[in-house]
This record gives sequence, structure tokens and C-alpha cells, in this order.
Amino acid sequence: MHTLTVGLGERSYPIHIGSAILTRLGHLLKETLPAHRYAVISDNRVATLYGAQVLQALQAAQLEGELFTFPAGEASKHLASIEQLAGSMAQRGFDRGDAILALGGGVSGDMAGFLAAIYMRGIPFAQVPTTLLAQVDSSVGGKTGVDIPEGKNLIGAFYQPRLVLIDTDVLQTLPENEFLAGMGEVIKYGAGLDADFFNYLGRHREQILSLDPAQLSSIVSHCCALKAKVVEQDEREGGRRRVLNFGHTIGHAVEAASDYSLLHGFAVAIGMCAVADLAVRCGYAPTSVQEEITTLLQAYGLPTTIPEALNRERITTFMQADKKSIGRRLFFVLPTALGQVNITDQIDSAALAQVLACNKTA
Ligand code: NAD
Ligand code: GLY
Repeated sequence: MHTLTVGLGERSYPIHIGSAILTRLGHLLKETLPAHRYAVISDNRVATLYGAQVLQALQAAQLEGELFTFPAGEASKHLASIEQLAGSMAQRGFDRGDAILALGGGVSGDMAGFLAAIYMRGIPFAQVPTTLLAQVDSSVGGKTGVDIPEGKNLIGAFYQPRLVLIDTDVLQTLPENEFLAGMGEVIKYGAGLDADFFNYLGRHREQILSLDPAQLSSIVSHCCALKAKVVEQDEREGGRRRVLNFGHTIGHAVEAASDYSLLHGFAVAIGMCAVADLAVRCGYAPTSVQEEITTLLQAYGLPTTIPEALNRERITTFMQADKKSIGRRLFFVLPTALGQVNITDQIDSAALAQVLACNKTA
């Protein structure tokens, strides 16, 4: 087991990463997050796969847990589900001496984290992420929340977990497209923050795609360490944390314009290629950066162009409504070299229109 720390003063917390962590979950919770009872919040798919194992691990450490489930999928990530889960917890007598375990992908993590932030004005929680995306991104950093019809993640809170328990074995049951979507975020860390890691992902592609356990632990640890460092510098996204949104300004708009039929990590891959194209057109980056990013994403079977069928005007409208815009200024995280990005709102609008219109990646 490998342990990292997210250093946030009195809100610091450990991230334990490795194989068979689920079996040790009860003992690890006892050390860091002792509670009377644990409300295990999970979607129905993950609950079927891992719910019993988690409850057993709690029992093995003489801890009590109860499972609360909701239907799998982004469509569940709304306020009514939070109200329903809170109601079920209240009916079962959960109080401020208890804690929440978020077991599942980013949807479970965002919902359970938000519920923890507001249930009885806040109870502690732990993240137990089970998708690659959740293990490398959403379980770390304290962003929690739900969607409203007007947009994704528009209601939420920064609320840090007390610990993150990452069992990389659970990735073996993840559908292939969900794994690849997670790789979109993994490649984002390399392309945006760490050129050596980017090259490592190129060299170890076969082992990673064959879900080699040592490689999985290694890449998840590396991504968590990179994210922890950024979050430590800028917990509430006042500045530096925006580098994590590399590929997201155009990516989110593409995802929304596809009516969420594109998985988030696929949209981020498309968004990284589009913004690299933009960086080249605006003179911020050499073409080699765009080529290298596109080549690696393609090697992992990820999409690199905006689907022809998506309406460009809708993409532009979604981009302008993005919550990452500040005072109506839209910021882009542009690659300037491999592993380096620059945040700017100084974009040539004609170049942006060309990127969206001509949909070329090289
Ligand atoms: P998800 O939680 O819906 O999981 C995807 C699917 O995989 C679900 O059907 C789930 O049941 C299934 N699944 C999960 N683990 C499994 C496993 N081990 N084996 C088999 N099936 C498994 O989606 P996601 O991609 O993990 O997360 C997307 C969400 O994360 C979005 O709502 C997004 O907004 C959010 N997000 C949040 C942050 C943050 O910082 N808080 C960052 C990125 C994304
Ligand atoms: N997923 C981006 C962030 O946590 O800031």
C-alpha cells in the first residue's frame, strides 16, 4: 500500500492506494475516521459488485455499516436524490456521530460528498473511488455537488474527505470504455503538468491497457500526487487549480452538445486536442505539442476530433455559459510545451472559430 497526504492544514488527509485495500477498509477507517456507524452511499451497480465486501470489511473491524443506494448514472446526480438519501439516513437514525462512505465513481463521490457537507450541517466522509476517473481525479480535492437542469455541478460545496481509499483491483470489473475515459484524465495530467509522466504513459501503454496491477497502482499514485500538489496550492480554485481544467473548456461544451452521450473523459480528450490546436493557431505553442498529445490519445483509443454531427453553435453557446468563465471572460488552459500550460482569456476569436469549425487535429 502506498500512502500520500493532501496537505491542507487541519483538513489534511491521507490517500491510501494499492491492491486489496477494500479488505482492510475497516481497519483503515478505525485509524483515521472512527464513527459510530457508516452510511455507505453507492449506485446500484457498484453496490451489487462491492457493497457486501465493504460491509464485511467494516464488520471485520467491529464497525457498523448500512448501504444506501441510488440508480447508476449521471441522471441521478440531482437534488432530489440527495433529499431522498438524507431522508433514508434520518429514518435509520444516522446522526453527527456517524460518517459517510462514498463508494463508486465520480457520481457517487460527488453526491455522497455533498450529502456529507450538508447532512446535519456536515458530517465527516471518506472517498472509496471505484472508477479510474474517480481514483485519479474526483475523489481528491473536495469538489462535491449535483447537477441542475441549467448545468452540470452548478450546486455544490468544497468539502474535503477525511481519507481516500483507492483499491486498484476494482478497476478489473470496470467496462472498457469507462477505463479509457479515465485514461483521458490520466493523459491530461501528463500533457498539462508532467512531460516525463506523459512519455511514461507512451512507453507503458500495453501494460496499462492490459490492466497490469503494478502499473495501475503506479499511475493512480502519480496522478493523485500531482493533483494533491495543485490542491494544496489552491484549494478553492482561485487560480492555480484551474490548470486541472486543461481540455475542459471546449471539452465540457462538446460533452453538453452531445447531450452527454460522450463520456466525460472522451470529451476531455477532444477538448485537449482542440485547445492544443488553438494554442498553435494563437502562437502560444509549437505544432509538435499538438501532434504529441493527439498521437498519445489516439494510441489509447481516445477520440481526438469534435464529432462532425455536433452543432458548432451549440458548442459555442455551452462554452459561453460555462461556470469556469469569470465576469463573462472565458479562460482557456493552453499548452505551451509538453507538460506545461498557461491560463489566458487572450484568445483570437477567429482562431477559436476556426478550431471549432474545421475540426482538424493536425
Ligand atoms: P460514474 O460514477 O457514473 O461511474 C461510471 C459507471 O461505472 C457507472 O455505471 C458505475 O456504476 C460503473 N462503475 C463504477 N465503478 C465500477 C467498477 N469498479 N466496476 C464496474 N462498474 C463500475 O461516472 P465517473 O466517470 O466515475 O464520474 C463522472 C462524474 O464525476 C461526473 O458527474 C463528473 O461531474 C464528476 N467529476 C467530479 C470531479 C470532482 O473533482 N469532484 C472531477 C471529475 C469528474
Ligand atoms: N477536476 C478538477 C478539479 O478537481 O479541480
